[in-house]
Amino acid sequence: MEQVKVGRADRMCGVLHVPGDKSISHRVAMLSGLSAGSSVLSGFLQSEDCLNTLHAMVAMGAKVTALSDGSIRVEGTGGVLRSPATVLDMGNSGTGMRLLTGLLAGFPIQAELTGDASLLSRPMKRIEQPLREMGGTIELLGVNGCGPIRIAGGNLHPIRYELPVASAQIKSAVLLAGLSVAGEVCVIEPEQTRDHTERILMALGLPLVVDGCRITLQGDPERLRALPSRDWKVPGDFSSAAFWLVGAAMTPGSDVTLVGVGLNPRRTALLAVLERMGAHVQVDVDADSADWEQTGTITVRGGRLRGTTVCGQEIPNLIDELPLVAVAGAVAEGETVVADAAELRVKESDRIQAVCRNLVLMGCNAAERPDGFVVRGGAVVGGATLQSYMDHRIVMAMSVLALHAANPVVIEGVGCVATSYPTFWQDLETLCGKVIGYEER
Ligand code: S3P
Repeated sequence: MEQVKVGRADRMCGVLHVPGDKSISHRVAMLSGLSAGSSVLSGFLQSEDCLNTLHAMVAMGAKVTALSDGSIRVEGTGGVLRSPATVLDMGNSGTGMRLLTGLLAGFPIQAELTGDASLLSRPMKRIEQPLREMGGTIELLGVNGCGPIRIAGGNLHPIRYELPVASAQIKSAVLLAGLSVAGEVCVIEPEQTRDHTERILMALGLPLVVDGCRITLQGDPERLRALPSRDWKVPGDFSSAAFWLVGAAMTPGSDVTLVGVGLNPRRTALLAVLERMGAHVQVDVDADSADWEQTGTITVRGGRLRGTTVCGQEIPNLIDELPLVAVAGAVAEGETVVADAAELRVKESDRIQAVCRNLVLMGCNAAERPDGFVVRGGAVVGGATLQSYMDHRIVMAMSVLALHAANPVVIEGVGCVATSYPTFWQDLETLCGKVIGYEER
């Protein structure tokens, strides 16, 4: 098991280009792989999760070439997929498994999707239910509604589906299944969630209409065979930038600039939270942003933070950053409360439990609530050995807090960072200097 020892950093300074957006990379891999042409993906996140999705598309007929400038060319299948010869391993990725299940549900193929222990313990009934309602043959092979998932695709029909939880993954699974439907697919969200799928489908010229929380797609199996290809410049991942935003904001003397960061408003609610906490953040939108997703430069300077409450409609728009809200709360003045975030319990780990247990091990004051947590700011003692819970975001968030600890902190099982941010440790040392000891046990 790999572990790191994180030492104290006085400040975080420098300029960084964060790696490509994970959610967008999954989606453009799937749609380019299915298109009737060739697409160049620049900034594609070459992490384990997204490469698994790309490999799955190759197993069903797409062709991928690495180009000399680091981008990749995908030649699509022209709207037809062949049954993969082997089980598709989606590794750690809920996005990969859920979105691909949706995409495949309408194709006349047989496929089985599996993943690691974390992925195979995550709820999949949430996609099985709407896809079955559409006429899909979806079988959950694990216990308690978990994967592996077997798909024997067939004819899907139109649906009007009200999502029981605010989840971009369920929404996207239904919309991607909708591509094979002859007719209208309508999804209604309880709260607005990240809309990358909608933006990408619209950028491809597909008839998708967004009216508040209601998204309607006119599916057409004929048009699917002529699905356009195009080049995609994947923005930097705001959720990766978030580690440095929070790390710099909570450390007086810090000054960090992050360039090329995706600024989709459904992803950036952390910026408003940090401002409420008293952080100094500046956002400059790129004049040459892509037509389908905005990017920009974010500059943050360190200072003293104060506690805040995060709840309600804000939650889906910073769902992956909530461990970092706890980290900021651990050094902020007063109390930081997160509520309405029970979804955190079914992420790559139970993030409410993982965050609170690790904070307490570091000598912080943190308490679990069924749908969130309460953190009271104070000194970070450190000197502890933390568990990763096999969750990349737990490792990275705890590393940021460890930079503040009075005593070095060991984190076990850190290999999972490669699922979303393979260059995390290098980037941390670019901003903080030599603070990491890395060893294989
Ligand atoms: C994602 C949506 C979110 C997020 C996940 C990626 C996506 O999950 O937590 O990391 O790419 O659509 P839910 O939609 O299940 O909330």
